[in-house]
Amino acid sequence: MTDRDDLRLLIAGGFPLITIESCEEPRIIGLLRTLADGLDVSLARWSVTDGLVTLLGADFFSAEQLRLVDDSAPAANSKRASDPETALRAIRGSRQPGLILLLDFHPFFDNPVHVRLIKEIAQDYEVRHQKLIFVSHALRLPEELKSFAVACDLALPTAIELSRMVAEEAELWAARGGKTKVRAEAAAVSALVNNLGGLSRTDARRLIRNAIRDDGAITRSDVSAVSAARYALLGGDGLLSFEFDTANLDDIGGLHRLKHWLGERHVAFKDSTAIDRPRGLMLLGVQGGGKSLAAKAVAGVWNIPLLRLDFGVLYNKYFGETESNMRKVLASAEVLAPCVLWCDEIEKGIATGDNDNGTSKRVLATLLTWMAENHRPVFVVATANNIADLPPELLRKGRMDEIFFVDLPNAEARKEIFAIHLKRRALAPAHFNLDTLATRSEGFSGAEIEQAVVSARYAAQAREVTVDESLLLAQLAATQPLSSVMAEQVAALRSWASGRTVAAD
Ligand SMILES: Nc1ncnc2c1ncn2[C@@H]1O[C@H](COP(=O)(O)OP(=O)(O)OP(=O)(O)O)[C@@H](O)[C@H]1O
Ligand SMILES: [Mg+2]
Repeated sequence: MTDRDDLRLLIAGGFPLITIESCEEPRIIGLLRTLADGLDVSLARWSVTDGLVTLLGADFFSAEQLRLVDDSAPAANSKRASDPETALRAIRGSRQPGLILLLDFHPFFDNPVHVRLIKEIAQDYEVRHQKLIFVSHALRLPEELKSFAVACDLALPTAIELSRMVAEEAELWAARGGKTKVRAEAAAVSALVNNLGGLSRTDARRLIRNAIRDDGAITRSDVSAVSAARYALLGGDGLLSFEFDTANLDDIGGLHRLKHWLGERHVAFKDSTAIDRPRGLMLLGVQGGGKSLAAKAVAGVWNIPLLRLDFGVLYNKYFGETESNMRKVLASAEVLAPCVLWCDEIEKGIATGDNDNGTSKRVLATLLTWMAENHRPVFVVATANNIADLPPELLRKGRMDEIFFVDLPNAEARKEIFAIHLKRRALAPAHFNLDTLATRSEGFSGAEIEQAVVSARYAAQAREVTVDESLLLAQLAATQPLSSVMAEQVAALRSWASGRTVAAD
């Protein structure tokens, strides 16, 4: 569906207020002009600089009516009602149905008179059919207006559109400088278009122009410059962090079934034509079992960037921004695709709290709908260790490709984990009896095993000896693993997981 179709539906729909968050104002005005023309409705715009101006159709505001609200109103269609309150009163007083576009109205929402006037216009919608369309780079609608409003997400440019933009910019460059043609390597152009995917039209065009301008050519080096700029655009909002620290399957002890599952899906994930591209998995399990590590390994093994979603930042204190933040995150992830979108400790973000006016439910719905509909190769890895807090819709079959349960490591996995962490600290696993270590670490998580190795090293350093088995065994004996401290919780988690999830090992 194109933007025009989307907007047409919203305009035809029953919501008196439409919000559009976008920096592409000229394009939106153009779209609305075409739509209003086609639907034969009047269109006016308001901005603080120009006031109310009728763009199409019958004049909204009769001279008489404007005189009522604005004594200084000059002739029709010139500057008038640039003050927001005057403008809103004029709209409320007008009988003319139609669309009124309010550009950059966002700073004026903090005035109760404005809010009230907008509400009154919205309440009268059934009678007068005046639809207010707010366009700003960012919009935070006051609570009392939300039930009247619907948000319109404008689609990002498609590959075809981007290719066309490259051609247009190349022609412009040649025409402007009186030059011949832009030198373009075919492979570089298609790589460039791929790298622009997901950016807004304005950003994409700016990057294309920069790429051509420096040397009149589109080459490989432009492609890397464009990806760098894209990362910078992504970094701007601080909601996603780019994790440089990924992992490999060799870094993980146990979890064999999960590793196998990932290996099987590697090709399908990379294949842009695959119908059933893997979309995401959920890792549930005990603390310190290696869930975060496994999430990092997906990115490492598939050799794609890892983006971590910070739910703390997502849920900022401004009510109502959370969903728009989530949409931004998802759009950013699409920009960076192929990538892994890692929602660590997802239960902290979308717990089934009943006292947040349903925000967390809507955020979750946004994520799940996007997962089902998104066509870009973004693989979601969600991790959680508190199932009680998880909303059932997240766990329903078919949402995630699979839900894995990461249990405490069995003896075989514990041996592997000891070997991994000993090796990492330049200690030869062959000098240790891994079977004994595994037996004595029953009930330990991977993190606790690692911790025992680390503590043994400190102890050895203090005594100026090398780490040996007895030191390590002493550390194990001194540790009370979480599984015994929290035996009941672990047991409950296990019994919940059996039958509902697949064992990761
Ligand atoms: N299966 C494992 N193999 C190797 N190392 C492991 C394993 N499990 C845990 N570790 C070690 O413990 C560290 C902490 O584990 P990790 O953060 O992945 O656990 P988690 O399941 O995400 O725990 P939490 O629920 O507390 O977030 C890892 O960085 C790794 O060094
Ligand atoms: Mg973790």
